[in-house]
Amino acid sequence: MTLSSVIWRCIIVLLTFSINYFPLLHVGCQRAITSGYLTAEPAPLFLMGSNLTVYCHTDKCDRSSKISMKLNGKPVDKWERINCTTVKFHLPSIWIPLSAAICWQTSDYMTKLVDGLDLLAGLPPDKPDTITCETARSSSLINCSWTRGQETYLPTLYNISVNRENGSQIRLFQIQGADKITIPRRMLDENTTYLIIITASNHFGTSQSDPVVLRVKDIVIPESPIIMKIEFQSNSVAAILQWKSNESSVHLRPHVKLRTNNTSWEMRAGVELSKNLIRTDNLTHLTEYEFQMKICNTAPELTRTNASSITARKALLCSKWSPSMRKTSPGKGPSQQLQVWRKVERQGTDGQRNVTVLWKPLPPEDFSGKVIEYDIFLDNGQKLKTCAAEYFQCAVQLPAEVSSLSISAVTTYGKSPPADVILKQSGIAILPTADDSAVFVSWSWTTGNYPLKQEEELQYYVMEWTNVPGKGLWWQKLPKDLNSTSITGTLTTEPLGNLSVHIRTSNASSDFFF
Ligand SMILES: *[C@@H]1O[C@H](CO)[C@@H](O)[C@H](O)[C@H]1NC(C)=O
Ligand SMILES: *[C@@H]1O[C@H](CO)[C@@H](O)[C@H](O)[C@H]1NC(C)=O
Ligand SMILES: *[C@@H]1O[C@H](CO)[C@@H](O)[C@H](O)[C@H]1NC(C)=O
Ligand SMILES: *[C@@H]1O[C@H](CO)[C@@H](O)[C@H](O)[C@H]1NC(C)=O
Ligand SMILES: *[C@@H]1O[C@H](CO)[C@@H](O)[C@H](O)[C@H]1NC(C)=O
Ligand SMILES: *[C@@H]1O[C@H](CO)[C@@H](O)[C@H](O)[C@H]1NC(C)=O
Ligand SMILES: *[C@@H]1O[C@H](CO)[C@@H](O)[C@H](O)[C@H]1NC(C)=O
Ligand SMILES: *[C@@H]1O[C@H](CO)[C@@H](O)[C@H](O)[C@H]1NC(C)=O
Ligand SMILES: *[C@@H]1O[C@H](CO)[C@@H](O)[C@H](O)[C@H]1NC(C)=O
Ligand SMILES: *[C@@H]1O[C@H](CO)[C@@H](O)[C@H](O)[C@H]1NC(C)=O
Ligand SMILES: *[C@@H]1O[C@H](CO)[C@@H](O)[C@H](O)[C@H]1NC(C)=O
Ligand SMILES: *[C@@H]1O[C@H](CO)[C@@H](O)[C@H](O)[C@H]1NC(C)=O
Repeated sequence: MTLSSVIWRCIIVLLTFSINYFPLLHVGCQRAITSGYLTAEPAPLFLMGSNLTVYCHTDKCDRSSKISMKLNGKPVDKWERINCTTVKFHLPSIWIPLSAAICWQTSDYMTKLVDGLDLLAGLPPDKPDTITCETARSSSLINCSWTRGQETYLPTLYNISVNRENGSQIRLFQIQGADKITIPRRMLDENTTYLIIITASNHFGTSQSDPVVLRVKDIVIPESPIIMKIEFQSNSVAAILQWKSNESSVHLRPHVKLRTNNTSWEMRAGVELSKNLIRTDNLTHLTEYEFQMKICNTAPELTRTNASSITARKALLCSKWSPSMRKTSPGKGPSQQLQVWRKVERQGTDGQRNVTVLWKPLPPEDFSGKVIEYDIFLDNGQKLKTCAAEYFQCAVQLPAEVSSLSISAVTTYGKSPPADVILKQSGIAILPTADDSAVFVSWSWTTGNYPLKQEEELQYYVMEWTNVPGKGLWWQKLPKDLNSTSITGTLTTEPLGNLSVHIRTSNASSDFFF
């Protein structure tokens, strides 16, 4: 391999590197091909945000050549020629932690690499803060953690000093760039108060934490609980978690977190039903949940030490999260009653009468799954008939003395509350009038019937519209405060049939037309 091919290969590597900001130090070939060197003021390791001056020195004096620099791939336009071998480049306010400066010498016939230099920016460490230590009952280690504050971009050393109360050091731990450390527990006496001081240091400075009081017996976290059982309350979206723990303290508060589909955990404020039973509300139907629990204890206040400025730790001591338990919530059963109406035929000679029970489909948002069937019950709770899910009416034959029925929709996840079908007829006539187009209908009570007797309460009106005989019956429930309505939808496309308006009171329904 010729020298020039080495140079060109390295230049390609360097070009790639200057695009990707890859540290120059890792490019193995740069020494072999340089034709000069770079120096930086104040230094190649500098305080972030500083103004830097970089000198490009070439080995040979060549007045005809041009010396240029690129910083992270971008040309540097502020420069000064010092003499025939040296050019001074100004790099203002560098906030990038790792930059690469590359110097080139261009003459008429070729461009040569002079050299490259890594520029490292960093910051002094912040004061280590929120120092917490904890250990488990049976653990031989104490885990301490702290917050480091702002990123320093530089190797930062943490000295963790464990001191006696009088300030004399027992042990010093050192760790690079970390925010936690484990301390052997046997090193410390369980009942003695110690002071922990953490000192952070790097090229740009040193920062010391406030001393923190540590007494091993005060930092023992509770053992994790175990979730024994999850039960979903029937038809409500709440789960009851039964849990157990080896901890005997009465001051333990359970906490629950949950997630679905391995998404992020969500903390839930549970309702404590009793010891070892907690309820979580506001769940969704038909969803697989993953639950975890922990228990927390309020740490006893630590004894104050002689050293002023030291405040006792009052943080919560929480156990680790329990193992997960998964369970899928059940579907929702209907909460609403069916809207019902009925058509009572005249009594036959056999003392029976034919009744058609009519209902509206349940709103789909009120239940999950599907409707399996509709069940009609007698007053005494005995099932009279099962009607198919596809229909919204059902005919039954009844002795004349039966005065009411009830009907429930049976769905995949439960029954709707029974809706009363009142068969008793009140005999009160409501007189409807339709306008010419039969779109607007109003009605009035026959004289003498209004207001109703005290024991009867108007609940709602039902407007019926029979089309061509045999083509079925349309009906619609209307609020009791109306005395007119506009007919919309399907009804208007059908020819006008018999129109009637009925009242439903607390114990009877009027049937004028039957
Ligand atoms: C950096 O240089 C600019 C002018 O180029 C000056 O305004 C600024 O104060 C300098 N910053 C420092 C930290 O010296
Ligand atoms: C050019 O200037 C630099 C820096 O001032 C100096 O070190 C170097 O000796 C000078 N070179 C010549 C040839 O004058
Ligand atoms: C302490 O840290 C170790 C290792 O990181 C871990 O295994 C252990 O569970 C931790 N103990 C506590 C009480 O946090
Ligand atoms: C950290 O500990 C080392 C080893 O004892 C010591 O040399 C160094 O000065 C300490 N650093 C600080 C900032 O205290
Ligand atoms: C602190 O106490 C320990 C033991 O109680 C003792 O050995 C040490 O000399 C004391 N140091 C100071 C500075 O008082
Ligand atoms: C710590 O103190 C308790 C009483 O406060 C005592 O029962 C126990 O033996 C002491 N433990 C040690 C290791 O000194
Ligand atoms: C309770 O302690 C026993 C023995 O120490 C252990 O086997 C068991 O797993 C613990 N149970 C819980 C819920 O922590
Ligand atoms: C969970 O995942 C299933 C399929 O893996 C998906 O159908 C469903 O929408 C997801 N639910 C959520 C809340 O992301
Ligand atoms: C969630 O993650 C666990 C383990 O990683 C996996 O067994 C399970 O199938 C995942 N569940 C979903 C819904 O992605
Ligand atoms: C359930 O969630 C809704 C909104 O998502 C919220 O307004 C309501 O307070 C929650 N109820 C409970 C008992 O957490
Ligand atoms: C009731 O309906 C059945 C069959 O639909 C019919 O045979 C019977 O005559 C009807 N009874 C009366 C009283 O209308
Ligand atoms: C309907 O009620 C309104 C007031 O609520 C009344 O003015 C109007 O006369 C009533 N119409 C009929 C037909 O009863």
